[in-house]
Amino acid sequence: MRQLKPNVFSVGAIDWERRLFDELIPLPDGTTYNSYLIKGSEKSALIDTVDFSKTEDLMSHLIDTGADRIDYIISNHAEQDHSGSIPDMLLLHPEAKVVTNPKCRQMLIDHLHIEEDRFITVEDGQILSLGDKTLQFIYTPWVHWPETMSTFLQEDGILFSCDFFGSHLASSHLFVQDEAKVLQDAKRYYAEIMMPFRSAITGNLKKLADLKIEMIAPSHGPVYNRPALIVDAYHEWVEAEPGNKVTLAYVSMHESTRKMVDHFTEALMEREIEVERFDLTHADLGELAMSLVDSATVVIGSPTVLVGPHPMAAYAATLINALRPKAKYLTVIGSYGWAGKMPDQLQQILSGLKAEFLEPVVVKGLAHDENYTELDALADRILAKHKNAGMAA
Ligand code: FEO
Repeated sequence: MRQLKPNVFSVGAIDWERRLFDELIPLPDGTTYNSYLIKGSEKSALIDTVDFSKTEDLMSHLIDTGADRIDYIISNHAEQDHSGSIPDMLLLHPEAKVVTNPKCRQMLIDHLHIEEDRFITVEDGQILSLGDKTLQFIYTPWVHWPETMSTFLQEDGILFSCDFFGSHLASSHLFVQDEAKVLQDAKRYYAEIMMPFRSAITGNLKKLADLKIEMIAPSHGPVYNRPALIVDAYHEWVEAEPGNKVTLAYVSMHESTRKMVDHFTEALMEREIEVERFDLTHADLGELAMSLVDSATVVIGSPTVLVGPHPMAAYAATLINALRPKAKYLTVIGSYGWAGKMPDQLQQILSGLKAEFLEPVVVKGLAHDENYTELDALADRILAKHKNAGMAA
């Protein structure tokens, strides 16, 4: 039985073996679905539940706490990794009501077919007393769905933030032990899940700033007993200008594009521009996402397949476009056999980014000396852009 504070129990599940989330996001360190039981002097509340596959773990941990009654199931977020066990909890606890905001209520009805009379809806800032413990509901939308909210346990200063501030890290430690490791996984989580919603995060950080938070208990990963660790990191990831760095994602079929990528990497390094390279045939997309958090420039390297980009380059471009990184500059390098619109198609896929598209370098067949000179000139242009933006000396 694990406790955050007296009568505040961690009752969620550790998923040591899960390696993919949403059938998209790699989970090299597994994950957890955190759920918390708060026993007040009059009422008890369960903060979120767990993924459906781990319902038995939740039930077992609740038995360990001796809880014979759950009055409220607080749903901070409707996504199934936190709401999946709510239907079973409602069957086991016919007295329980689901407490959430109106948007989340509708989503839970849509996704889990929870009966309408099982809900209590709450407004932003509303209070719910459990007797000697008081819950305050704070709408924190778009981290990362429109309905997401946080719950603040006032007497203990614990913020239950659900996905917000989370990390995919399966660990036997309830609290953060290795801060560097947790920050790395939290950054990966931010990059994969939260990055497109930077403006909403800024608003939510402001909203939470006045609370006396002693502990942040997210619904993935360890609990922060030093909240500044993750709050400061979020400020940095969201607000800081990107750095003098290029994220270079590429694929090559017959070495033509790879030779260009190799030369271009050296050219950037000679200009003291940091380069992070990702061979898309085996890249961890989470690491690619992390690289995007602070890169000023994104470069896609691709050969031409039929008339367009290699499908792996198109896939990476689709993902990068969806993640909406801060990058200010964007370009394409690569090759073709006889014709094609590879760079135009990649530019189109990436059109959601607010980035200036620099003239691409695309070569017929194997690059010649003049093509390497073009790559040098592209590296010069990137350096000049970074200098103008104050990112490079
Ligand atoms: Fe952890 Fe958005 O679910």
